Amino acid sequence: MPTIKVTDLILVLLFFYPSFGQAMRNSSPDFESWLQTEESIATEKMLANISPAGATKGAVIASPSLQDPPYFFHWVRDAALTMNTVIDLYEDAIAADQAALKDRLLDYLWFSRGNQTAPSLTGLGEPKFNVDGTAYKGEWCRPQNDGPATRAKTLIRFAQILLAQNEMNFVKHELYDGQTPSQSVIKTDLDYVAHHWREPSCDIWEESIGDHLYNRLVQWRALMDGATLARLLQDPTAATLYENQAQQIESEFSKFWDSNRKTYVASINLIGGVNYKASNLDSQVILGFLHSEALPFSDDRIQTSLQILASTFTSLYPVNANGLPAPGIGRYPEDLYDGGKNTAGNPWFLITAAFANTSYKAAAELYKSGKIDLANAMATKGDDYLRRVKMHTAADGSLSEQFDRNQGFEKSARDLTWSYAELIQAIKTRQKLKQ
Ligand code: NOJ
Ligand code: NOJ
Repeated sequence: MPTIKVTDLILVLLFFYPSFGQAMRNSSPDFESWLQTEESIATEKMLANISPAGATKGAVIASPSLQDPPYFFHWVRDAALTMNTVIDLYEDAIAADQAALKDRLLDYLWFSRGNQTAPSLTGLGEPKFNVDGTAYKGEWCRPQNDGPATRAKTLIRFAQILLAQNEMNFVKHELYDGQTPSQSVIKTDLDYVAHHWREPSCDIWEESIGDHLYNRLVQWRALMDGATLARLLQDPTAATLYENQAQQIESEFSKFWDSNRKTYVASINLIGGVNYKASNLDSQVILGFLHSEALPFSDDRIQTSLQILASTFTSLYPVNANGLPAPGIGRYPEDLYDGGKNTAGNPWFLITAAFANTSYKAAAELYKSGKIDLANAMATKGDDYLRRVKMHTAADGSLSEQFDRNQGFEKSARDLTWSYAELIQAIKTRQKLKQ
């Protein structure tokens, strides 16, 4: 009988398990229980990045990372999207837990108001603040006009919650006042969006200056929700302005549709920024639809755009050849940003989670319209994306910004707040779908 040497055994194991980390992953608890555990880890870690030690209350740091990359700052975009997830937590929480979440939303409200009035280089389009609330004054891509739109959208949601709790006076005084527009946080942002949306802006990746579909989508959403709030609070002139501008923005969406390739493109009318984004294919268009709900998620145009991105990243990142049906998704194919030397971009957790969320939302629509087979397929696709997230999640459940395109280990900023916020959203959509 041939003897099997230990070294042979190890070689065989190595063959089946390309990395030790992966072997560990294969022995991890099943998907459902992972989702449960990961949701609570993500929640805890996301909340830890709101008003952390050393920051003014209400500051939402992008990550605790101080260098490579330095992310211990309050980005208007990351903060608004994160606090939008905090509102989801608030809505799902039992009464006893709601008070603490409401305090966090109030802190964010005051901090945001401080951002609006702090001296800065670009005013309301200022993208990034120090954690004491003063504006960051170093070289940066400015303005970033998605910021006031998503901040308004989140705060409008908060205002609606407060109104349902009969807090009319507070809302009028602190959030939206038609009489003293420049003193109220939501109206300040909405007026800015209504009057400045046509101006060139940096994109959400802080690299390209021009017109971006993501920005148009969230600007549209902010003005639509803003018009509803304005009417409710007896500010009809503003409501009409917001509605009119929203309509004009909406008519711009089609400019980003590439009918030959059957995909939305990210940007048009570029006037500056990096010059290597030849394909104009970019996951930010999917994020834009997710954050604005401007079209049904089962709409062919969203689905074909998502498909093209998915197949692009499947072949681009070697790690995607590995074992799972759904690929890890990056920002755009030409991306170089890796949080350090910037030699090659990687898949991102938050984007992969957003692709899951988009698939679940499409599934929900398809179930409603009785297209059960398609719906099931979409729901499975959502799970495939979350299994991809699971595969690359660190053993303690923490999520960085990116995972390595070759090996799959976590990369760039650790504990990225936005990664948690986007994953929690996807898991919550999945829970609603299963109900
Ligand atoms: C930092 C930005 O946040 C990131 O999006 C960008 O890719 C890099 N700078 C490189 O420009
Ligand atoms: C770089 C990303 O490109 C940008 O969208 C984000 O706001 C910052 N990192 C902070 O997370």
